[in-house]
Amino acid sequence: MKFNIALLPGDGIGPEVVNQAVKAVDAVCKKFGHEVSYTKALVGACAIDATGKAYPAETHEICMKSDAVLFGAVGDPRFDNDPTAKERPETGLLAMRKQLELYANLRPVETWKSLISKSPLKTELVDGADFICIRELTGGMYFGEKHEADDMAFDTCKYTRPEIERILKVGFETAQKRNKHLTVVDKANVLASSRLWRKIAQEMEKNYPDVTTDYMFVDKAAMVMIQNPKFFDVLVTENTFGDILTDEASVIAGSMGLLSSASVGIHTSVYEPIHGSYPQAAGKNIANPLATILSAAMMFETSFGLKAEGAAIRKAVAASIDAGYVTEDLAAGGKSYGTNEVGDWVAAHI
Ligand code: IPM
Ligand code: MN
Repeated sequence: MKFNIALLPGDGIGPEVVNQAVKAVDAVCKKFGHEVSYTKALVGACAIDATGKAYPAETHEICMKSDAVLFGAVGDPRFDNDPTAKERPETGLLAMRKQLELYANLRPVETWKSLISKSPLKTELVDGADFICIRELTGGMYFGEKHEADDMAFDTCKYTRPEIERILKVGFETAQKRNKHLTVVDKANVLASSRLWRKIAQEMEKNYPDVTTDYMFVDKAAMVMIQNPKFFDVLVTENTFGDILTDEASVIAGSMGLLSSASVGIHTSVYEPIHGSYPQAAGKNIANPLATILSAAMMFETSFGLKAEGAAIRKAVAASIDAGYVTEDLAAGGKSYGTNEVGDWVAAHI
């Protein structure tokens, strides 16, 4: 096959980790006889500096024309403490999600035996935990009506029936392909938007008799995720709840540097690590590239339907973890390797 991939490295450690994912993509294409080309584009703070916009029109065009997008991270401390900034790096990510209509964000949570000791949770709780969070990505408070003044501000959590139906469909269908257990996470005891989610989920549940569907309030879900993460198979929830719960979930595996994600919807899908720009580590060759490399595996599996290619990347990542050929966040005080070295090792083992 022939792929044209848009590279949006973004800010902070984004460029370093995306470079490592490119090495893995090149290696897998070479091994399986695919042809790949890349087009680089700006997003985030670097795009604001160069063009004034965090998601320039040119970047959007490149994404639309590509078969998939590999994304690094956005964010810059220059903007974090300036609430008056109109154009922020994060605006670029949100604009990209909205314009590409990436309504479903898939965030798998897996564990690796040799890393279990890195988890702050007890081994017996995390060993074997394996679930996927499906986060709605283009609605809710992130995109609802806002008001921002000196004496009053609000964000609106608004969802329409079609928006809820399409994300729940992803939830049910993902559950059908996994262990057939779907947990719909909401706050239906308080929020109107959550009650609509629950009502629609209860209607749709009847069409998926093979799936065991249960409902959980988000506060309880936050607790169960730590107390009994093996309870979950597929979890589906709205945008803000999903943002918070997936950061919590990243702790289970032992490092945020391991969690990959796919954002899929109407136009080109985007693959990105969930960890963000980690500006303190930028340029130091210490960031963990595995989440981005695993996101590239998701790209082969989800966008191109190439399971063997994805598996080859996953196998090499698992081998690097087992061999202890890892960055300092996973080294437990033992020998650690640089971002580049881990990227080279993984590519060489594909
Ligand atoms: C994420 C990030 C983003 C979000 C930020 C950078 C806007 O935290 O992808 O989880 O809140 O969605
Ligand atoms: Mn987040």
